Amino acid sequence: MKLLVSLICIVLNLIRLKVVDGEITLEYSHNNNNGMMKAVVANAVASKVGDFSNVFIKDIPIPTPRAGEVLIKVAASSVNPVDWKILTGGLPLKFPHTLGFDVSGTIVKCSHCQRLKVDDVVWADLGKTWIFRGGELGAYAQYAIADEEQVSLKPNGIDIYSAGTLPLVSLTSFQALRMTGIFQRNKGNLTVVVTSGAGGTGFTGIQLAKAAGATRIVTAASPGNVKYLESIGATEVVNYHKTTIWDYLDNNTVDIVYDNYGAPGTADLAMPKMKSGGVFIYLPGKGGGKAKNPRSDVKEINYGLCDSSKHDDLDILGEFISNGTLKANVDQWFELDTIKSAFNASIAGHVTGKIGIRIS
Ligand SMILES: NC(=O)c1ccc[n+]([C@@H]2O[C@H](COP(=O)([O-])OP(=O)(O)OC[C@H]3O[C@@H](n4cnc5c(N)ncnc54)[C@H](OP(=O)(O)O)[C@@H]3O)[C@@H](O)[C@H]2O)c1
Repeated sequence: MKLLVSLICIVLNLIRLKVVDGEITLEYSHNNNNGMMKAVVANAVASKVGDFSNVFIKDIPIPTPRAGEVLIKVAASSVNPVDWKILTGGLPLKFPHTLGFDVSGTIVKCSHCQRLKVDDVVWADLGKTWIFRGGELGAYAQYAIADEEQVSLKPNGIDIYSAGTLPLVSLTSFQALRMTGIFQRNKGNLTVVVTSGAGGTGFTGIQLAKAAGATRIVTAASPGNVKYLESIGATEVVNYHKTTIWDYLDNNTVDIVYDNYGAPGTADLAMPKMKSGGVFIYLPGKGGGKAKNPRSDVKEINYGLCDSSKHDDLDILGEFISNGTLKANVDQWFELDTIKSAFNASIAGHVTGKIGIRIS
């Protein structure tokens, strides 16, 4: 009887045979929903920020990995501002389009993989632009395709769900700080400004600046976030509702500005505060840019876009996570069905840490 039931299940693709330590075992297949999965799909461009009338929770076919790709059973993702910003343009999206950049989960299929294998637990930012597929690959789904090259093994010291909230923001902060040369500078005695402390790029930026040896880390936040930011390494937190970092700081005192807020005019306000040899880097996206009145002894850098095409930087970030210098902070969890509420919480602009999306 047991044999008959097993054979029926195999025929129906509900379980599969697996060899473990030389013994044949039966394992329930991930694919027990007739090859379909739930996904957050945008059907068309939005009329304005906050218009989600073209975003739907749909049942769509589970994608098939091509050579060099993996299929991930998604555990978690997160909301980054880019997830809702791209709905109004900016990236070459082909519709219908499955949304979502960050991903963590378990590999269930590999096609001609070199490094990873089925059952590996992984994390990645899928925001590598696939021109012929029309944008990035979608993480807001029960299964997601990724390029094996962009996927890293989940670090020790973090659970699978929290790991899905960190890839994009930690890659951005790490790459931006690396571009300033902070990791090569003499440890200690460095003053770093992170213009917005409490959000995704802020809490990762502060922790990584501290890990790089900054001794003074100045940031801005609402009063409710001061204690948290001090606990992760900020030495001074300016209440931006009352004053500005630039009014607060003395001239010629700052080595590095990580302008992760990126408001217009910030570079000009920052210039007098920079030491000779200082570096100002900004994330584009809110209209910020280089100074109208630059200083020849201060380097200014446009960060550009996060490079999530290779796993190497995630591997390095994994070491920061494993040794406890980079910790996740998830403000709220949502599910795929409530993704629009998650987007609205992000648009409201006061997320502390990250908004997580729990998928399985
Ligand atoms: N180019 C790229 O590749 C790239 C990558 C990542 C992010 N970005 C961009 O970088 C920006 C930040 O991203 P994120 O993920 O960190 O956003 P986020 O998590 O949504 O940031 C939310 C935080 O912004 C803070 N905030 C609001 N108004 C502020 C102000 N006037 N001054 C300082 N902080 C303020 C809030 O702090 P309080 O709650 O304490 O008020 C909140 O914690 C976004 O524009 C994003 O699109 C670009």
